[in-house]
Amino acid sequence: MHPASESPVQEPADRDEPAVADETRRGLQDTFGRVAKDLRVSLTDHCNLRCTYCMPAEGLPWMAKPQMLTDEELLRLVGIFVDLGIEQVRLTGGEPLLRRSLPDLVAGIAQLRPRPRIAMTSNGIGLARSAQALAEAGLDRVNISLDTIERETFKTLSRRDRLDDVIAGLAAAAEAGLTPVKVNAVAMRDVNDSGVADLLGWCLERGYELRFIEQMPLDAQHQWQRGAMVSATELKEKLEERFTLTPVGQRGSAPAERFLVDGGPGTVGIIASVSAPFCGACDRVRLTADGMVRNCLFSRGEVDLRGPLREGADDKDLVRLIRGEMWRKASGHGIGLPDFTQPARPMSAIGG
Ligand code: 5AD
Ligand code: SF4
Repeated sequence: MHPASESPVQEPADRDEPAVADETRRGLQDTFGRVAKDLRVSLTDHCNLRCTYCMPAEGLPWMAKPQMLTDEELLRLVGIFVDLGIEQVRLTGGEPLLRRSLPDLVAGIAQLRPRPRIAMTSNGIGLARSAQALAEAGLDRVNISLDTIERETFKTLSRRDRLDDVIAGLAAAAEAGLTPVKVNAVAMRDVNDSGVADLLGWCLERGYELRFIEQMPLDAQHQWQRGAMVSATELKEKLEERFTLTPVGQRGSAPAERFLVDGGPGTVGIIASVSAPFCGACDRVRLTADGMVRNCLFSRGEVDLRGPLREGADDKDLVRLIRGEMWRKASGHGIGLPDFTQPARPMSAIGG
């Protein structure tokens, strides 16, 4: 086991934030000196796939429409985050393409100043139809989830026969200039792990940047087991049966450790979220589709912005709530520690 995963989680120091006259000026700091620059916004918890590492076959009790932020509410909140120093907005879900107003939301975010970079994490279904319009609205790039290029395995893993739609979505994203097109994959033992080298070869041929993510305990069914997870080390060994991997560059706040494949220029990333957490360099904060701010994927608390927003809170009140939530951010997720408990919300309701 990697020693970093066993280091105790520190709760934030019990002290007040240093006073600065302008509430927005000092950005979104936490007590460990990290500053959030990357806002992940979940646009819906609905999804058209049922990936086994995410949800049960029957789906989940979806959020009702009145619970979800309206476009106007969402744009107002994203604007406040941008005032607070957010430089990149990543749209996620569930599946963000299921939000009908997506192009309008992208266009609205692109009008904020300073204009944030706008990215999206999607399963790619339907992107073949909308990639061009999204690029024109201001979307800069996409991460598409694809765990296998074998049709039957895709069907088993996502419980839907939609591989062709995802492949078409990827091609359309590249065509529309939503580059670099990144592919996210989760390797699961005895499900798709024998195909990881094939997936890498396939992505390299098309110029997509593949990144593997260690499976995290975020499934709605709470069935995750550390022993069943394909670790970063194991994954690297599997890829090295076919390819030569050479580490590249500094990781910075980027979670993926990147490798040149066979001397480059193609690369592959491995995100060891569980076995070698990168919490110390985390620059993320999350906004859920129902208007909660979460300082971490694994945080047990969250702060409600929707209630105050609908009761007429002004920007200053909202800024205070957001900053307070960041100030409560713990040092790490502590997966692997004896007292770790999974967050009540599944990944599809938090945003990846
Ligand atoms: N562990 C790791 N990655 C996950 N994803 C969804 N659930 C999990 C999990 N339990 C991935 C999706 C998508 C991104 C948002 O996170 O495949 O690429
Ligand atoms: Fe949908 Fe993403 Fe969950 Fe798969 S992992 S079911 S694509 S939300």
